[in-house]
Amino acid sequence: MLDGEFFENGGLYEDEESLIVSTKTEYDEIENVLRPKSMDGYVGQEKVKTNLAIFMQAAKLRGEALDHVLLYGPPGLGKTTLAHIIAAEMGVQIKVTSGPSIEKSGDLAAILTNLNEGDVLFIDEIHRLNHNVEEILYPAMEDFSLDFIIGKGPSARSVQIPLKKFTLVGATTKAGMLSSPLRDRFGVLSRLEMYSVDELAEIVRRSAVKLGTEIDTDASIEVAKRSRGTPRIANRLLRRVRDFSAVLKHETVTLADTKHALDMLEIDELGLDNIDIRLLTSMIEKFGGGPVGLDTLAATINEDSNTIEDVYEPYLLQLGFISRSPRGRIAMKKAYEHLGKPIPTKIRDQISIFDEE
Ligand SMILES: Nc1ncnc2c1ncn2[C@@H]1O[C@H](COP(=O)(O)OP(=O)(O)OP(=O)(O)O)[C@@H](O)[C@H]1O
Ligand SMILES: [Mg+2]
Repeated sequence: MLDGEFFENGGLYEDEESLIVSTKTEYDEIENVLRPKSMDGYVGQEKVKTNLAIFMQAAKLRGEALDHVLLYGPPGLGKTTLAHIIAAEMGVQIKVTSGPSIEKSGDLAAILTNLNEGDVLFIDEIHRLNHNVEEILYPAMEDFSLDFIIGKGPSARSVQIPLKKFTLVGATTKAGMLSSPLRDRFGVLSRLEMYSVDELAEIVRRSAVKLGTEIDTDASIEVAKRSRGTPRIANRLLRRVRDFSAVLKHETVTLADTKHALDMLEIDELGLDNIDIRLLTSMIEKFGGGPVGLDTLAATINEDSNTIEDVYEPYLLQLGFISRSPRGRIAMKKAYEHLGKPIPTKIRDQISIFDEE
């Protein structure tokens, strides 16, 4: 199971499935086909790429393993993809696992002792490691050794097993949930940002080539605009649009096909789907625009609060449609405008204070 094999985390996968229906098999296979295999194919994230390139080159010059890397940011921005690219560029093997799948410290010890010099160990959802397992990681990351206590009471003794120098690449959507001793042991902390429309359009064009689909430039830009800054969504929308166009027996995906297909999928011109709309509408109509707590909001629209926090909120925050306050979420002026709702005076006043600086 751990031999370089990639497996998606169950939770987020299911959440995303609710957006658009596709089968798991299709999803897994196509995602692997579309995944860029080298830095050159990895669009955007210039800052992260530049830094990594320097650290990788330095490690190679010294003939050492790359320092441990933590990749964090919302789902679908390319953390898993980048972890594989790092291993490929360093010319080493990658072993893949995830926080929740390592149950006992012995499991992690077994994985660690099987690593070769310079190998990448990729731990997805690293914030979900349990505490006992995490403690094994500290000396492994810092001193490349496993520290065990054998026996109990007066006869207990500590045993150290040396490990090969490896690189831990951790990925998480919730950097805030990582314990500070763990976070501090990463030499490189890279935050992935949402992608621009231009970058997403480029990803759509490259994916279209891999899928053997022709798509007009304005159509690729339309897909990009509705992809919530997220390559995984861009690729998924491209596939749906391609299906639509294929049924119409069009050789090239046109802008009209794209608009029609995305409208049918109820994805609006900003990429919001019916869950976003319900969320915003409920904030405005039921809670006077907020502040409203995440759990209350989640219960009102009958969605999981983790999904809202990880999948929906990052984009709504990015758009400036909502903001977070200590007392809960607040709907902003732009959200009222997008939904065509009258903007209450209190909001107009709030905004004008900021606007007229
Ligand atoms: N920079 C990029 N350039 C081109 N394609 C990308 C890029 N980043 C991601 N993708 C595409 O998006 C898909 C999703 O990326 P990936 O699985 O790496 O995201 P993730 O951050 O690991 O998500 P999750 O948090 O859900 O695990 C990949 O299959 C890949 O095709
Ligand atoms: Mg991933």
